[in-house]
Amino acid sequence: MSKVSNRVKIIMYGLGYMGKEIAKLLLKKKGVEIVGAIDISKDIVGKDLGEVLGVKKDLGVTVTDDSKSLLSKVESDIVAHATTSYLTQTFSQISECVMEGFNVISTCEELSYPFKKHPELANKLDRLAKENGVTVLGTGINPGFLMDTLPIVLTGLCQDVKKVKVTRMMYSGNRRIPFQKKIGTGLSPNEFKQKIEKKEITGHVGLNESIAHIAAALGWELEKIVEEPPEPIIAEKELKTSYTTVKRGQVAGLKSVGRGLIQGREVITLEFISHASVEEPYDEVIIEGTPSIHEKIIGGVHGDLGTVAMVVNMIPKVINARPGLLTMRDMPLPSAVLEDMRIYLEWETP
Ligand SMILES: NC(=O)c1ccc[n+]([C@@H]2O[C@H](COP(=O)([O-])OP(=O)(O)OC[C@H]3O[C@@H](n4cnc5c(N)ncnc54)[C@H](OP(=O)(O)O)[C@@H]3O)[C@@H](O)[C@H]2O)c1
Repeated sequence: MSKVSNRVKIIMYGLGYMGKEIAKLLLKKKGVEIVGAIDISKDIVGKDLGEVLGVKKDLGVTVTDDSKSLLSKVESDIVAHATTSYLTQTFSQISECVMEGFNVISTCEELSYPFKKHPELANKLDRLAKENGVTVLGTGINPGFLMDTLPIVLTGLCQDVKKVKVTRMMYSGNRRIPFQKKIGTGLSPNEFKQKIEKKEITGHVGLNESIAHIAAALGWELEKIVEEPPEPIIAEKELKTSYTTVKRGQVAGLKSVGRGLIQGREVITLEFISHASVEEPYDEVIIEGTPSIHEKIIGGVHGDLGTVAMVVNMIPKVINARPGLLTMRDMPLPSAVLEDMRIYLEWETP
């Protein structure tokens, strides 16, 4: 049974770009109330959430860095969490919410399918969630949908599957500046190499999780998952982006590839390619099987818009889901929340 009595109450945990966009979308939805806001950034702690979001009114919610105190006194149905990508960093944040009895939906990439890379943390979180009767879900566009949930769903049409290949081909020149920096835009090839070595550029986080997730859905015991170091894509001509001008010979973006192998045979290939010279972005799934399937989203899906939507749309489903650390494969089909969020809770209450 959902704990919701009146409006769906949500605590925001992490108010960087994603957290702010999620909060702004929530403010547009009916039947929703943001009841708390947590972040450690000195720029926003102590401010009213309305000011932080740039909406023209106070929301009566002050951003705090004292998560413990807030979580112990505020009533809420769920925490929307968007801080960092790595489970070793987010584990304590998420388990703190769980132990206070809150469901959690998070954009943490490694939470989307943590059972292979971090089995101990995953099992601990699962146990804590069950003990406290709450649900934890890691989701977003990727990982969370394009390179895992979508290909998994498409294999439902197959009698046999030999290989799954997913390519995300993204134009990066109009993306927000931190993203363009993150993929090395405008660096020299040497600077790019140094940043890879220092792990200042990581490439796409989530390939490992998406590969493990697809394999688990298909019952494939992978012998190994290989994530290749991100390769720079070099500009062949001068490119203007919203961040900088990339000269010919400089880095326009990167390519990250992950492979899942069984007995030396590559059965899953995921390619994440994002740079400023992509002319025709797309998201593509190719399944070799019976029947073979070739699905292509022309233009590709906007990463930030898609992630924000996925988090908001999954909120009623997470509130109503069984307790534990769940994955997108355990959840009802994703679908858009268009009307008052409370009606989706009524539909989905078992
Ligand atoms: N799954 C997906 O499809 C998907 C899609 C988009 C983004 N993501 C991931 O979602 C995460 C958030 O993205 P973003 O772009 O919003 O990142 P961001 O702009 O760096 O924002 C993160 C915010 O969380 C704060 N923070 C960090 N550690 C915290 C802690 N312990 N307690 C409270 N607040 C904390 C940060 O404060 P400081 O700035 O002071 O550190 C910052 O304000 C990233 O890991 C990103 O990779 C996933």
